Amino acid sequence: MSKNNNIQIRLIKNKKELEQVFRIREIIFIREQKVQKNIERDEFDKISKHVIILYKNKPVGCARIRLIGKKAKLERIALLKGYRGRGFGKNIVNYLIKYCKKKDIKEICMNSQYYLKNYYKKFGFKTRGKTFMEAGIKHIEMYLN
Ligand SMILES: CC(C)(COP(=O)(O)OP(=O)(O)OC[C@H]1O[C@@H](n2cnc3c(N)ncnc32)[C@H](O)[C@@H]1OP(=O)(O)O)[C@@H](O)C(=O)NCCC(=O)NCCS
Repeated sequence: MSKNNNIQIRLIKNKKELEQVFRIREIIFIREQKVQKNIERDEFDKISKHVIILYKNKPVGCARIRLIGKKAKLERIALLKGYRGRGFGKNIVNYLIKYCKKKDIKEICMNSQYYLKNYYKKFGFKTRGKTFMEAGIKHIEMYLN
């Protein structure tokens, strides 16, 4: 768990927190970014580790870690609009990287939204391959090992 300045970042503890994560994803991906509702939740939700971000005990962000052998895929990283630009995103990504390193993961990858390419580069992620469209949004694969 990561805790400082009233922010807590940790795995969800129960079904209620999973519902809170789904609600945040709905606000950000479906309403804000116009991702189709029927693809936002998928079969990997059942097998992924879900991370919740609480600010003063209020759920404000989320992320999902999918372990695939010795690889991990980071997905659904998001913060409610009013909580962006305060360094919380940086805290989340650092938490996710630390979590994966503890699990002896050899490569962390993600399909990054293209507009965040330089954001993830700051954590050491590199781009791989060409840009592609996913959920109607331009993406690029990024990896860290
Ligand atoms: C992605 C997201 C979680 C980042 O969180 P955030 O709290 O806004 O980011 P931070 O405040 O931690 O920013 C950290 C640093 O990255 C910089 N940064 C922010 N957005 C950036 C961008 N698009 N490109 C490059 N740098 C960026 C900030 O200026 C800051 O720089 P500093 O450390 O020099 O001050 C947030 O913007 C979000 O939820 N977006 C909508 C959902 C989304 O697109 N998710 C990504 C799916 S791949």
